[in-house]
Amino acid sequence: MTKILQGQNVVVMGGSSGIGFAVAELALERGAAVFAIGRSGRAPMSAQGIKVDVSDRHALSAAFGKIGRIEHLVHTVGSRFGSTPVASLEEPLLPGAFEAKLFSAVHAVRLALPVLAPTASITFTSGQVSRKYGTGSFVKGALNSAVDAAGRHLAKELAPRRVNVVSPGVVDTSLWGEEGSDARDAFIARVSTSLPVGRVGRPEELARAYLFVMTNGFVTGSVLDVDGGGLL
Ligand SMILES: NC(=O)c1ccc[n+]([C@@H]2O[C@H](COP(=O)([O-])OP(=O)(O)OC[C@H]3O[C@@H](n4cnc5c(N)ncnc54)[C@H](OP(=O)(O)O)[C@@H]3O)[C@@H](O)[C@H]2O)c1
Repeated sequence: MTKILQGQNVVVMGGSSGIGFAVAELALERGAAVFAIGRSGRAPMSAQGIKVDVSDRHALSAAFGKIGRIEHLVHTVGSRFGSTPVASLEEPLLPGAFEAKLFSAVHAVRLALPVLAPTASITFTSGQVSRKYGTGSFVKGALNSAVDAAGRHLAKELAPRRVNVVSPGVVDTSLWGEEGSDARDAFIARVSTSLPVGRVGRPEELARAYLFVMTNGFVTGSVLDVDGGGLL
């Protein structure tokens, strides 16, 4: 296995669980020094867990300052919220959802800039619902579309740093409930039958997509769908 990230600092915001945790594990395997940011401080063994709520910009800035130099900034933070028809939309839902996934990503880039290597990669996370339309999906759809657009604009603005977006389909993580819970199992089973590949994704399959955009110097401004054919 090539240690393609040897000597490089990788920051995974949301590295304390699910897809981000798998990205942190794979980056470690590939030789990186890994910093996993989350409210819990959880991290894979050998990574440094940093306990920060990403809405606390001071704490985030201080954390970046301590890391010193960042070669790869990955953002997989997201929060769980269900499908919401516009008629029952409550005022705090939109700002809360956009803060967790878009605003925190964009402000993280701003705060990391002083320590972001000149050839750094930045990777955001959106989701297939940006282009998979349905009743009650408009909040998630608009949010993920905004993440896709922000990534593409920043790829031009921040060049030669590279900015990409990974867009997952349904992946088996705690986003869908506690492991082993009936609700999560039923959801996963229902989605699996609808997908061309016959199953949902695994976090480690997503991690390989992140590693690809992080390490391929000719890839920027891309939105990489990793969805088991969910958009077909
Ligand atoms: N799983 C899917 O099927 C799927 C599909 C499409 C898109 N996505 C996207 O993929 C991304 C990762 O999702 P996942 O499935 O891996 O979910 P997850 O396991 O719930 O991970 C979410 C991560 O975000 C962190 N986080 C949430 N709020 C935070 C805050 N205020 N400050 C710091 N960290 C915070 C959590 O850490 P702490 O709890 O430690 O704070 C956790 O590490 C999300 O953006 C999600 O929308 C997932």
